[in-house]
Amino acid sequence: MFNIFKKKNHSQKLDMANIPNHVAVIMDGNGRWAKKRGLPRSAGHVVGAKNLEKIIQYAGDIGIKNITLYCFSTENWKRPKDEVDALMKLFVQYMHDYDKLMGDKKARVRFLGTREGIDPEICDLMEEVEKKSEMNDELNVNLCLNYGGREELVNAVKLIAEDVASGKIDPKDITEKDINDRLYTSFAPDPDLIIRPSGELRLSNFLLWQCAYSEFWFSDILWPDFVPKRMEKAIIDFQQRNRRFGGV
Ligand code: FPP
Repeated sequence: MFNIFKKKNHSQKLDMANIPNHVAVIMDGNGRWAKKRGLPRSAGHVVGAKNLEKIIQYAGDIGIKNITLYCFSTENWKRPKDEVDALMKLFVQYMHDYDKLMGDKKARVRFLGTREGIDPEICDLMEEVEKKSEMNDELNVNLCLNYGGREELVNAVKLIAEDVASGKIDPKDITEKDINDRLYTSFAPDPDLIIRPSGELRLSNFLLWQCAYSEFWFSDILWPDFVPKRMEKAIIDFQQRNRRFGGV
């Protein structure tokens, strides 16, 4: 049987001439990581955030231009209130001290997702961080917070409908670009590589439009243990793939 997690021979080295422009990551497994150690789930998120610090450094070091991180989905509000509160508190901590997340990288931070439902004070902080970092151009760090791929598409449809209603767009002229331009990710190319650690083999409403020709990397390592060396393995594997985009 084909085993997606089978150890592969990665004697190859990272090819610095073929670094993916855009890597997206579903940072999954914090809860299980904590449970295994008899800790509350929120402790897993704290360690997950620490790991994110390392991963952003690594992304910048190897020249990734866009890194998109799934931090909180439109469905994650269903979690117990204490976990949601702990996550929001953690996000706020990093917003106050976002240099900690960016290290020595001149990163432009954007929050992708709907602001609806997020505490207005947190929304203000999000805007502040975006504003403070908007001149940075070393890499884009895209934090998906209250993000859902379906919500993103509904939002794009609403924006197009408004333009149709005001006569700006003729419905028969609507193109893929019109949709793409109205997504939260409109400033970035589609992700080349989507990584999901923790053993789950699904997208969970992440980048549904953008993933059309993304390469996937699944690993059963839990996110807090998904250190830069593991990410390097994912990228080396990506570099050996033959991307055809529907061609031959
Ligand atoms: C999914 O793992 C993880 C989340 C819903 C939260 C991800 C957030 C972080 C890694 C912190 C990022 C921090 C900042 C500052 C941006 P899970 O809890 O569902 O894990 P499980 O599947 O093992 O339960």
